[in-house]
Amino acid sequence: MSLSAHDLLYSNSHHSNDDEQNLASIDELQQLLCHLLKYTETEFLLKKREPIQSQDLIQAFYRQAKELREGKPLAYIIGQAPFMSHTYLIQPGVLIPRHDTECLVEHSIRLLHTLKKDYSSIVGVECGVGSGIISIECALAHPTTHFHAWDISQKALDIAKHNATRLGASNITFHHGNFFDGIQDILKKHPNSLPFIISNPPYIETDTIQTLEDSVKNYEPHLALDGGTNGLEFYDAFFSLIQSIPSVLLCEFGYNQKNALQALARKYELYTIEFFQDLSQNDRYFIARTID
Ligand SMILES: C[S@@+](CC[C@H](N)C(=O)[O-])C[C@H]1O[C@@H](n2cnc3c(N)ncnc32)[C@H](O)[C@@H]1O
Repeated sequence: MSLSAHDLLYSNSHHSNDDEQNLASIDELQQLLCHLLKYTETEFLLKKREPIQSQDLIQAFYRQAKELREGKPLAYIIGQAPFMSHTYLIQPGVLIPRHDTECLVEHSIRLLHTLKKDYSSIVGVECGVGSGIISIECALAHPTTHFHAWDISQKALDIAKHNATRLGASNITFHHGNFFDGIQDILKKHPNSLPFIISNPPYIETDTIQTLEDSVKNYEPHLALDGGTNGLEFYDAFFSLIQSIPSVLLCEFGYNQKNALQALARKYELYTIEFFQDLSQNDRYFIARTID
């Protein structure tokens, strides 16, 4: 007997007593099936009762649906994740893009437009490029601005380069290594450009990582999460960096870190700092300026 996509979906979704979890898993199972069948969502709705001829595809679905139920994130199973209007290739070892980061990116793109009215030359720099989402979206929106993007993880850097090539962002130079070791050289090479520094750095307190949900702590790279004992190590280093360099800094942060960041900014006598929320009204990113 041939099975349809509808049969596969519903025979695989009765594995939880919790309704919400069940609903969420049906949605992810459907995305998995769409990926395997190479269907859009609309095609899935139109063709979901047609028999699936390929036994290999059915076996692949059973295998991957099991991985999904065991907690492996969908993005690592299908090797891709959506961000803004693009699809990014993703692999285990590289942080999965979060929709929360879209607010930071959209604001960066708008702010760059505004700054370009006053500054003839701007150099974009990103600490921790991951899959490339931030630099690539900014580079695509600002093709005449050059970006430099670092990651300490070679795997992340390889994926980011691949995504940049696929999406046609040719105005990014990628650097492997510690951002704080490499940044000074780049700034020296661009003495007349305004540094526009962007980052979604690791910001989880080291001891909190073990309390995160399984799909995060067991699968996502801790190098992308661990912000040190107090979660603020990267912000401390960013504030120290921009103190002596007239620049603009945009960073994402954890929903409960605003007060600590305000205190840290005061310690560095950094008074031009504004905090913003994401679409769920969580404090999510800030813009700090050391220019007039
Ligand atoms: C939270 S992830 C952000 C990835 C991506 N920008 C995003 O928003 O999805 C942080 C990234 O910073 C990288 N990273 C950690 N420490 C670093 C350092 N000292 N210099 C450069 N990159 C670093 C990690 O490997 C990881 O890819």
